[in-house]
Amino acid sequence: MIYLDNAATSFPKPEAVYQALDAFARHDLANPGRAGHKMALAAERALDDGRHLLNQFFHGDAPERFIFTLNCTDALNMAFKGVLKKGDHVVTTDLEHNSVSRPLVAMERAGTITLTRLKADAGGTVDPDAVKKAIRPTTRMIALTHASNVLGTVQPITEIGRVAREHDLLYLVDAAQTAGVVPIDVQAQFIDLLAFPGHKSLLGPTGTGALYVGPRAKVGAWREGGTGGDSSNEVQPREFPYFLEGGTPNVLGVAGLSAGVKWVQEKGLAEIHRHEAELIEHLWRKIDEIGGYKVFGHRDHAKRVGTLSFHSDGLPATELGGILDHSFDIAIRPGLHCAPYIHKSIGTFPDGTVRVSPGPFNTKEDIDVLAQALQEMKL
Ligand SMILES: Cc1ncc(COP(=O)(O)O)c(C=O)c1O
Repeated sequence: MIYLDNAATSFPKPEAVYQALDAFARHDLANPGRAGHKMALAAERALDDGRHLLNQFFHGDAPERFIFTLNCTDALNMAFKGVLKKGDHVVTTDLEHNSVSRPLVAMERAGTITLTRLKADAGGTVDPDAVKKAIRPTTRMIALTHASNVLGTVQPITEIGRVAREHDLLYLVDAAQTAGVVPIDVQAQFIDLLAFPGHKSLLGPTGTGALYVGPRAKVGAWREGGTGGDSSNEVQPREFPYFLEGGTPNVLGVAGLSAGVKWVQEKGLAEIHRHEAELIEHLWRKIDEIGGYKVFGHRDHAKRVGTLSFHSDGLPATELGGILDHSFDIAIRPGLHCAPYIHKSIGTFPDGTVRVSPGPFNTKEDIDVLAQALQEMKL
């Protein structure tokens, strides 16, 4: 199988991740606890090490501000539901994944918040000036994706962050498609809430993710429960990260995630991005040569991640995806990719597009096999 669905989750993982998971599961997989036995302390240390790594990686304010979650969706829900209050207005965009838009629409329909959804331009980029113009006296938050999971286009998050800070608004960035490929500095980019998965470009296992809660954001407890310490307290201890992390955490997953982050640091973001951009450009050229397919989003690879969406003049996306899977053993993702609004904007709703997303271990030969299949399907 040629796996080209890394925007959904990365596969394969680096060898170091498999080794870290195996070693941790065999020797250290106790329930982390600050007041516990040696194995519990070792498990607690794995969480601490993971938080330190992430704090360094994203230039956070403090390691304990990184709250481990199940995935990016969990982190986004924790942020929206823990922060937004009745009467708040939120500015967001039509590039968003359902993990951003559904919780916001649910809060809008419940009468809690009002929402402005800005359109990206034809190339798939949101204009910081449009964000500025959408701000009202009741605006509390600007929430947007760092890169579109359909088009791969990277958004001007620093400029938009500056707008948010100038207006004293909370700024939430969904880094599902960029964490591990595009540098992110939460302090320099004015980010108050950064949600990201551990299982995509950070190369950790599924079941991992985190929310960074900057000092300007006050997030209410998402769930209450055991925190491995301070057990006489009748209510959730206020201390971070425990305040937001009730229950047994995915410490095995975090051990794997830490190995993934170290691999990314050693390889270097620029190198990972260069490799993926080269594969995408290679595919784009082949698609141009073949004809009969339309690619979406601008072509400036400095402002893209390794995700390409296209559709065929002849075959619906789902059919094309099925044929690639069954007849050619190639895994891509057809459909709406949980991001319906951008498909409405680019005219591909409801069929969607074919999305190809190589990872660090894909090769030009993989792309050649895909291009050959696309050529054959055109005949
Ligand atoms: C832009 C974006 N946001 C959020 C998510 C949700 O991530 P997770 O599957 O980790 O919940 C995804 C997943 O593809 C995504 O692409």
